[in-house]
Amino acid sequence: MSDLKKLEDEILASVAAAESEKALEDVRVAALGKKGTVSEQLKGLGKMSPEERKEMGPALNGLKDRVGEAIAQRKEALHEAALEARLASEEVDVTLPVRESALGAGRIHPISQVFDEITAIFGDMGFSVEEGPDIETDYYNFEALNFPEGHPAREMHDTFYFHEKEDGSRPLLRTHTSPVQVRTMEKGKPPFRFIAPGRTFRCDSDQTHTPQFHQVEGLVIDEETNLGHLKWTLETFLGAFFETGKVELRFRPSFFPFTEPSMEVDVRCARSGGEIRIGEGDDWLEILGCGMVHPNVLSASGIDPERYQGFAFGMGIDRLAMLKYGIPDLRAFFEADLRWLKHYGFAALDVPTLDGGVSS
Ligand code: PHE
Repeated sequence: MSDLKKLEDEILASVAAAESEKALEDVRVAALGKKGTVSEQLKGLGKMSPEERKEMGPALNGLKDRVGEAIAQRKEALHEAALEARLASEEVDVTLPVRESALGAGRIHPISQVFDEITAIFGDMGFSVEEGPDIETDYYNFEALNFPEGHPAREMHDTFYFHEKEDGSRPLLRTHTSPVQVRTMEKGKPPFRFIAPGRTFRCDSDQTHTPQFHQVEGLVIDEETNLGHLKWTLETFLGAFFETGKVELRFRPSFFPFTEPSMEVDVRCARSGGEIRIGEGDDWLEILGCGMVHPNVLSASGIDPERYQGFAFGMGIDRLAMLKYGIPDLRAFFEADLRWLKHYGFAALDVPTLDGGVSS
């Protein structure tokens, strides 16, 4: 009996000492498994005399039950302790302020936002979007646009030239988006109706000029496209862009070698104390250049000027962004100042749509 008591004490002590469910399982196998200490004792019952068995049978079965019971209880306790530990380590303080996600912290630059707004509005008017390279040839930037060599209008462009190449040509940074007119007409067939937004470069820098800036070109070519269509297109675009319904425009004669007639367009505005309001007041603000595409440009692009005609326009995107969002200094657009971007930038999901409002 005292041997059995000793065995029971030993097993119960190991049960109590088991610190994990795995250790407890080892104790169970060592006691109650096929070759466990308790099981071995039970096997001995068969060889005993009936009297011995009468005494040892209940004692051994009692031992087996108590050990089984102790293991079950310990198992439950270990399980609960593990759960408690996990709950404690995964505790969340729901009263802490929410940390800003990368998506929430990032900002869309106002120029990118205005690009998207312009694309959304013209997209709705049936214009596609075309692109051309930033590094251009003299041919596309000037010659095909009816600026002959030595023409004084070239001087107005303050062009950045690269070093002369072996063949004598000099690549340049495009001074306007108009080369995309020629490039797109060359590779397609009329009718055309597209805009071409992108980077442009001129050697100029002050509060209203930066060496790199952005323009959006527009071109419509068909058999009967006329100045009335140009006026409607610009009024419709500017009304939607400035969200003023209707804007009032003033067309002034101007000169561009690639359009004839050429015009500059002013929009009615009110100026007071450094603030400009579009669509009201007695002042005028110049915002774009436009005209009917010169027959020489059509010919250079492989289009028959006897059959096709149309209009082109070019606007400064930076200027549009400054006016719409009240940004006073153009140079700030290019300074990559995070504080500025946080103030003037847009949230990643402020995607301009016509039904949601172009400026969200
Ligand atoms: N390319 C001209 C400029 O940069 C703008 C323009 C485009 C004028 C298309 C007429 C037609 O000043």
